[in-house]
Amino acid sequence: MTSVNSESLNNIHLGINIDHAATIREQRKTTYPNLVDIVAAAERGGADGITLHLREDRRHIQDADVYDLKSIIKTKMNLEMAATEEMLAIACKVKPEDVCLVPEKREELTTEGGLDVLAQKDRLAEMCSEFNANGIRVSMFIEPAVDQIEASAEVGAGVVELHTGKYAELGGADREKELERLYQAASFAHSLGLIVNAGHGLEYENVIAIKDLPHLYELNIGHSIIARALMVGVESAVKEMKQIVE
Ligand code: PXP
Repeated sequence: MTSVNSESLNNIHLGINIDHAATIREQRKTTYPNLVDIVAAAERGGADGITLHLREDRRHIQDADVYDLKSIIKTKMNLEMAATEEMLAIACKVKPEDVCLVPEKREELTTEGGLDVLAQKDRLAEMCSEFNANGIRVSMFIEPAVDQIEASAEVGAGVVELHTGKYAELGGADREKELERLYQAASFAHSLGLIVNAGHGLEYENVIAIKDLPHLYELNIGHSIIARALMVGVESAVKEMKQIVE
């Protein structure tokens, strides 16, 4: 774990979230855009990993996508999911390199807030040991809060993904305060031996302050890159982000 974190000091991994490409496909139930082609273009652009969220309502990524993409992703798969028995079973079958446990509400537009690890420690500890036994690294998508970071370490997650959504939404002094909270959270998580990832709501400008989070290993970014891809194509959109975060 230490070697991963020290490597990250000069090489931030960029995970590309492709859910938004699947959303376009599912809106019309077409066969395009083809996610296999999207993944290949993202990897040509320098993606270090591909992130996808199999939601309980299957509004974008479908079960078949998870299986199909596992065999063609050359970098690594980070499968985001709710902490449910159904998702645990799927992950243990597919065996992505990483899973990221996220809170999920049916009515939300996108993932709102972080997972409350503290409130479900026993259940999450059981899930983590199952994932770990299957060789899958587990990340908890949490608010940058000391108690949630401690709980994540205690349940056996090797990774935390700090939720940058509030930082992205806020302005002025409030944004600065949230940034400070993220910086402190990143240092604290590292001091507990956790790998530090971050994501949500990041785009080509607001990522600049986030890429300097201490001990940052990986950023997961989707919406802004897929939107930029409408103008320049997936490969270039990823390349542009990669150049900023490197
Ligand atoms: N990380 C996690 C855990 C997420 O749930 C999401 C959104 O699906 C992202 C990163 C990417 O967020 P965005 O699409 O806003 O870049």
